[in-house]
Amino acid sequence: MAKKSRIKSMPFLVKGFSGKKFLSGELPVRGAKNFALKAQAASILFGGDVVLRNMPLIEDVFKMNDLLSSLGVAVDRIGNRSFRFKSPRNLETNLNTDAAKLFRASIVLTGPILAREGRVSFSHPGGCVIGKRPIDVFLDAFQKMGAKARSFKKSYLLEADKLHGADIFLKLPSVTATETLMMTAVLVKGVTILRNCACEPEIVSLAEFLNSFGADIKGAGTHTIVVKGGRLLKNGFFKIPPDRIEAGSFAVVAALCGKNLRIKNCDPSQMMAVLRALEDAGVNIEFDKDALLIKTPRVLKPVDIKTREYPGFATDLQAPFSVLLTQAAGRSLLFETVFENRLGYLSDLNRMGANILVCDPHRAVINGPTKLRGRDMESPDLRAGLAFLTAAMVAEGDSVINNIYNIDRGYEKVEERLNAVGAEIKRI
Ligand code: UD1
Repeated sequence: MAKKSRIKSMPFLVKGFSGKKFLSGELPVRGAKNFALKAQAASILFGGDVVLRNMPLIEDVFKMNDLLSSLGVAVDRIGNRSFRFKSPRNLETNLNTDAAKLFRASIVLTGPILAREGRVSFSHPGGCVIGKRPIDVFLDAFQKMGAKARSFKKSYLLEADKLHGADIFLKLPSVTATETLMMTAVLVKGVTILRNCACEPEIVSLAEFLNSFGADIKGAGTHTIVVKGGRLLKNGFFKIPPDRIEAGSFAVVAALCGKNLRIKNCDPSQMMAVLRALEDAGVNIEFDKDALLIKTPRVLKPVDIKTREYPGFATDLQAPFSVLLTQAAGRSLLFETVFENRLGYLSDLNRMGANILVCDPHRAVINGPTKLRGRDMESPDLRAGLAFLTAAMVAEGDSVINNIYNIDRGYEKVEERLNAVGAEIKRI
């Protein structure tokens, strides 16, 4: 299944609507990528079957399934968006596959494999090129839990007769480190205290999932998480909640191109920072429990954006939001604090006609409004890819977006969903 959809990953030809408001109807949001990947990985904490429903059918999910299969996990699709996972008695301990090398989320498997098998070897995980993305927080914590770590040129070997509970201060609140250590601690005998944790909603969902099936995790969603562990969990099932990043990106699309666009199957309570920023830009938002109706003003106002850990403005929404700021009347400041190399795509927006001054690797000044013109682009990472798609719909004339595998990694058939509400995007 993964191979088939990778072959389909051709460029997008996107019709530009010259700033017109043309999208109307209902735009559905799929299950959260950044939770689905961790829930898939969590299947190796279970001795029995795990069933996950409402899975987004995206390349990263397929890649995680491939990785799990390579470890010996039986993965079956049992419904349109449901998968069943059954972990073997002994897991493969080498995570050196090509997929793992290209895929940041592969790192979440390392701790649980180490806890179960006493050994794991893995390559430095790849993923979006948005900064250095080291793994020192993970390695430091595994060592505090009793592992011996050896690093080679581009790979690592961790070994431990038995991991033990520990009191660990994360030097920074990394999302995947928090999730990985929480999962590892479920299998480690004793009490593990994780301090300075990330608080993202996906971490809370992961704890809810594991606690529903026998884990003892307290404090998820706060900076201190306490886990009592030591046993494999039995069976589990979970419905993947909506993707707050996809929903936030669609809210931006709606603010730029929506006539009467309703974003459905989302959780506005997890989107406060981006909704607040949209309101500051003059956008009117009607809330429902699981839907948003976005009403665009005649003139958008400039807004200063500073990305932060949750509940602050998500770094994953920085690129889509910057497209909106190119259309706002005035000067906005963009300040990316989470990653050190996440503004590269702005030069492409300038080539489309935007007026953006990149001050340093973290800050840019966006002057608007500017007319964007369609052009050929290369999607550099998945969030910038969606930003390009958004910019292309706003632009005058057609655009071609190459390397849309980067978009397919995180957004399920996004062109079909956008076309259903009025866009004209073709895979060519
Ligand atoms: C996750 C999300 C990603 C999102 C990011 C921040 C997944 C699969 N990806 O990525 O979409 O953009 O959270 O919300 O869930 N760092 C270190 N050492 C470490 C680990 C991280 O220095 O060992 C740094 C990173 O380089 C970065 C910062 O910490 O500057 C935050 O990264 P982190 O929270 O780990 O992001 P990810 O979990 O990789």
